[in-house]
Amino acid sequence: MESDDAILLLREHVAKESLIAHCRATAAIMRASAGALGEDADLWEVIGILHDIDYEEVNEDMERHGDAGAVLLRAAGFGEEVAGPVQRHNYRKYGDSDTPVDTALTAADNISGLVIACAMVKGGSLSDVTAKTVKKKMKDRAFAAGCSRERIQKIEAYMELSAYYALSVAALQDIKEDLGFT
Ligand SMILES: [Fe+2]
Repeated sequence: MESDDAILLLREHVAKESLIAHCRATAAIMRASAGALGEDADLWEVIGILHDIDYEEVNEDMERHGDAGAVLLRAAGFGEEVAGPVQRHNYRKYGDSDTPVDTALTAADNISGLVIACAMVKGGSLSDVTAKTVKKKMKDRAFAAGCSRERIQKIEAYMELSAYYALSVAALQDIKEDLGFT
C-alpha cells in the first residue's frame, strides 16, 4: 500500500486532525529510521501511518488499543508485517518487543511527540528545533511527560541516540507544512 492510500484508510477511522498529524509524524520518523537501518522504508512508513488507527474506536480503553487496530487491518487485507507491529506497539499490554520494527515504532511514537512539543515552545517553529534541543528536553522529564524516554532510548540497540534525534528532527522538518508548523 502507498502512503497516500494508508492516510485515506486512516481518515476513514480517525477524525481528529491532531491524531492524524501524530500518525504522519510517527510515519515520517519510521521512514527515516528504516532508511538508516537498511529496512523497508515504504513498509515502515505505512506502519507508522496506521499504528493508531483504532485510537478513536477504543475510546480510552487501552486494553483494546492495538488489538482492535490489528483486527481492522487484517480485515482490510494487511498481513502480519503491518498488523503485528500495530498490535504490539501497545507495550503496556504486550511488553517491549526488541525486534527492529517494534523498537522503532514505539520509539517513533514517543519521540514524535517530544519533537512537536519542542516546536510548540519555539512558537510553532520546527525549523528552530535541533537535535540539541531534543537532547536537552529528553533530560527534562516534566517536559512532554507523556513521551516515554525509556521507549525512545531503546533505539540505542540499533543506532546512536544523537543520530536518532537528528534523524527525527529532519524527518519532521521535511513535512512541517503538513503538520501545521513553520
Ligand atoms: Fe501513537
